Amino acid sequence: MRIQMNGITKAFGAVPVLKGVDFELAPGEIHALMGENGAGKSTLMKILTGVHEADSGGIQVDDVETRYANPKQAEEAGIAFIHQELNILPDLTVAENLYLGRELKNRFGVLKQGEMKRHAEQQLAELNVFMDVEQLARNLSVGQQQMIEIAKALMTDAKVIIMDEPTAALTEREIRALFSVATALRAQGVSIVYISHRMEEIFELCDRITVLRDGVSVSTHDITETTFEQIVREMVGREIGERYPGRTPRIGETILAVEGASGKDFEDITFEVRAGEIVGFSGLMGAGRTETMRGLFGVDRMKQGKVLLDGKPVKIKTPYDAIKNGIGFLTEDRKGEGLFLDFSLRENISMPALGGLSKGSVIKESEEKRFAQNYLESLQVRHHSMEQPAKSLSGGNQQKVVLAKWLGTKPRVLILDEPTRGVDVGAKKEIYTIMNQLAEEGVAIVMISSDLPEVLGMSDRVYVMREGRMSGMLTRSEATQEGIMTLATGGQ
Ligand SMILES: Nc1ncnc2c1ncn2[C@@H]1O[C@H](COP(=O)(O)OP(=O)(O)OP(=O)(O)O)[C@@H](O)[C@H]1O
Ligand SMILES: [Mg+2]
Repeated sequence: MRIQMNGITKAFGAVPVLKGVDFELAPGEIHALMGENGAGKSTLMKILTGVHEADSGGIQVDDVETRYANPKQAEEAGIAFIHQELNILPDLTVAENLYLGRELKNRFGVLKQGEMKRHAEQQLAELNVFMDVEQLARNLSVGQQQMIEIAKALMTDAKVIIMDEPTAALTEREIRALFSVATALRAQGVSIVYISHRMEEIFELCDRITVLRDGVSVSTHDITETTFEQIVREMVGREIGERYPGRTPRIGETILAVEGASGKDFEDITFEVRAGEIVGFSGLMGAGRTETMRGLFGVDRMKQGKVLLDGKPVKIKTPYDAIKNGIGFLTEDRKGEGLFLDFSLRENISMPALGGLSKGSVIKESEEKRFAQNYLESLQVRHHSMEQPAKSLSGGNQQKVVLAKWLGTKPRVLILDEPTRGVDVGAKKEIYTIMNQLAEEGVAIVMISSDLPEVLGMSDRVYVMREGRMSGMLTRSEATQEGIMTLATGGQ
């Protein structure tokens, strides 16, 4: 076996997270690791790579008992880790990020800039990514940053590559590129651990699957010998029924209307959302959906266009103006904008005082606690105390905290940018149910999503953007996967 982990246990403080996990990885296989948010997937891989130390249990790499003291050692031993949380440095260029810590120098110690640039371009081209590698990484979208992280791992000539939710921010085309690279690596004998909440991907790509539940490895199957339903059952320990909860829409007056909006990377955008309506925004990555919403919300400048609330024009220059007008915006960049990682869950959730919601009144601590506890429970955030810092939550649970934070502002218009990214099947359904409830209470919801089944399953209408412009609008009954893709790609 390439990797063999036996009886791994790990507690953080008094909280046991792994309670005896077995995991093995053969040469030349793609092995899926699945489990609910907080099940311990990332932690297990962090133990393998020396980020954390196991409390007990054994690890063998190529049949030799091994313990890496730190991630650097694991990397040198040929184990590359594409982390769930992006680690791109925004003030370095794309090429500098790719070569961070292993810069090419000539014998005088001078950086070989030209060569690094060329290699960086080549490596990205293998992933079908074409971009200026001398631009600052801060200009990249989350999806592009993810592609850089993947390229970076591929450049190490690793024999084991751990991919922790690599496709969460990628479009279909990028996913295709990643899969063909992964398949080619497998043919060369490279082993891949593939962590994802997307069942379809796992059944397409992986050879075996190991399911974790609550810090215990429940099962390992050959992918051809198991089913979608069996895996869900093993993951959540119960049946979850329909993937998209049903709802009978009761749609009212238009709350938000945007007319002829233009700004950086979006041009002449017109759309509206009505009370009680869930409106999907579809399109390829880079189509300008996030940029439009950032312009509308006052994060970026809107050069032209009108925003109307209840038919009246409003001026939104800053996010504060937007929040004051009852607009909430859950961004796709949880780490950059959504969450204060060092602050407690309580502080994060009740912060939507986010500049003024408490309107100067002092929030009583007991109220604040009740408020936070309420959301932690209704969203079933896996946590042990509301005083723990947000960064100690698993990725999917962090996403739920960001959502809770916005729900706390009681918005009339809620813009959700990839709300279920990195969220497990059960929790996804909880988020959908909350969206439906909000809609029933009359909230106007905009959902940007790159997950087509999700767009089709949840939206009353779907707007499709392409290259910064609106390319069409489909009602629920008109919308199909093909119809959306045609509008998104311009009919190829
Ligand atoms: N540094 C830490 N300190 C305290 N608790 C932690 C720390 N890292 C992880 N945990 C806890 O360990 C549990 C497992 O987390 P982990 O990140 O491994 O989950 P996961 O299976 O990767 O979930 P997700 O699908 O959401 O990414 C969670 O309850 C998390 O809160
Ligand atoms: Mg994780």
